[in-house]
Amino acid sequence: MPIKKIKEIFIGSNNKGKLKEIADLLPKSLKIYSNLEDKIPSPIETGTTFKQNSLLKAKYFSEKTNKICMSDDSGIEIDILDKAPGVYSADWSGKKRNFNLAIRKVFREISKKDNNWKKKSLSARFICVLTIYWPNGKFVSKIGKIDGRISNMKRGKNGFGYDPIFIPKGKRLTFGEMEPNKKYRIDHRYNAFKKIKKYF
Ligand code: IMP
Repeated sequence: MPIKKIKEIFIGSNNKGKLKEIADLLPKSLKIYSNLEDKIPSPIETGTTFKQNSLLKAKYFSEKTNKICMSDDSGIEIDILDKAPGVYSADWSGKKRNFNLAIRKVFREISKKDNNWKKKSLSARFICVLTIYWPNGKFVSKIGKIDGRISNMKRGKNGFGYDPIFIPKGKRLTFGEMEPNKKYRIDHRYNAFKKIKKYF
């Protein structure tokens, strides 16, 4: 059966950084609805995997709006921290979503494991699962990743979240130092998006 192209979509996220990035990936002809005014409170993310939380959010926002909905669940896995903060990446920034705090916590936790870490290359990756959920209960979820390493200091003011401490493989700049358009074309969200692009 040919795929019925989506003409309008609700982006189920209250994270402005993600919203901007997702909207930028979508075709300009698409009508995009979002939750910018935080009218719909976010659901509690009870899942223990990116996939579970991505589906939970897409289903929740689709049921609230009766629209086709796309949600993202993402985070950073740092190998020396046994893949933490992982699905808890947002939680490490506290209730106020302060990523200076989250980044300080990352550096603190890494130092506990290896005091000499600043001279080493610590592997990490961003992961994103994008889910499209239709009001009839159908859904698709796809995962995207990008490998890289942790910068030994915060660098750059672009992007959001952990962008200032992540250096993608093969690059010198952190995501925080990169032009947004350069980041959008290589990152975990884009790699997941490529797999569901056919629906748009
Ligand atoms: P959640 O998907 O709402 O649970 O939040 C995931 C968290 O992971 C975000 O709040 C960000 O801190 C972090 N994160 C996910 N994607 C990115 C990214 O592209 N850059 C920087 N941080 C990210």
